[in-house]
Amino acid sequence: MEALLSKLSEQQELTAEEIVWFLKNLTPELKQQLYGRASEVRKQYYDVSVYSRGLIEFSSYCRQDCLYCGLRRSNLNAERYRLTEEEILECAVEGYKLGYRSIVLQSGEDAFYTEKVMTSIVRKLKLFFPDTAITLSVGERSEAFYQALYNAGADRYLLRHETASRTLYESLHPGMSFDNRMECLRILREIGYQVGAGFMVGLPGQTHRHLAEDLLFLKEFHPEMIGIGPFIPHSATPLNGAAGGTVEDTLVMIAMARLMVPDALMPATTAMGTLDPSGREKAIQAGANVVMPILSPLQIRSKYALYEQKICMGDEPEHCRSCLEMRIAVSGYRMEFSRGITTDLTYNYKTVSEYFHY
Ligand code: 5AD
Repeated sequence: MEALLSKLSEQQELTAEEIVWFLKNLTPELKQQLYGRASEVRKQYYDVSVYSRGLIEFSSYCRQDCLYCGLRRSNLNAERYRLTEEEILECAVEGYKLGYRSIVLQSGEDAFYTEKVMTSIVRKLKLFFPDTAITLSVGERSEAFYQALYNAGADRYLLRHETASRTLYESLHPGMSFDNRMECLRILREIGYQVGAGFMVGLPGQTHRHLAEDLLFLKEFHPEMIGIGPFIPHSATPLNGAAGGTVEDTLVMIAMARLMVPDALMPATTAMGTLDPSGREKAIQAGANVVMPILSPLQIRSKYALYEQKICMGDEPEHCRSCLEMRIAVSGYRMEFSRGITTDLTYNYKTVSEYFHY
């Protein structure tokens, strides 16, 4: 086992069989060593920096029906909302004022936000905040859509592969195709986006072999960003009786992913903080180096329920920032805003509506 851990940290790779063996035979002591190695590697690449990305969850409508997700279209209990362009820009202004220079626009797969609607939003964001990285996380779209949004100024795209096992993927995503998911990731990369992939831990039917496939896929695809979080069953989905993932199993995956893809940006996910009040700090100690504070307006937050009991539901963006900054500092790291906190906006505007003549 020690030899496998050394191979993993020195050569940054293991075979599928070795990963399965490693996962099966991990002891509590070895886990601590694994987290320690992952943390060292993260420090080599990123020192004590933990990067922040402000998250705007702008629509809870979704045309997909993923068995695990509370936003699935068959969940008729889910309350749906859409933010207007103006509301999205207001959230971004709030984020900018708080110092974030990286913004993520995330939604269900909502056809209301056509290429035209999305390019308009992204162009305005870039015009307003040329120094801010714009990340999209709006699911599977056409190549033309991805290209148009890239041309409009989007820099990054998050599309978790969810699981690298075709059979497991297809059992959880009725009507969706594993090949199309992979093709989308490939196209995004080819267009020039910095791409984020990732998976959930603790899905029903997921074995060590499946997790090995996830790690090997990440190693081969080498995404710039890797999101790994525990699956949390939602009561209004077909998987409501499932056991779900644990913080501990997820920490192991985060640490192994850090060792196999040392330069990746890896968030300490909200799902980790939901299962354990110090879940995000533990993720950072195991190799994660990104946090994603929520910028969505308070009134709609609880409606963006991929799973239930999500944390930070009632927290103003300002509170989210100081809470995360404090948690990160206490853990011995430093929250990074790519340009430091700017209180003095260079743009001479009063409100978004005034600027864009809504
Ligand atoms: N528990 C944890 N993560 C979930 N996601 C969706 N539903 C759940 C859930 N019930 C994850 C998926 C998706 C990301 C935005 O959230 O991996 O890609």
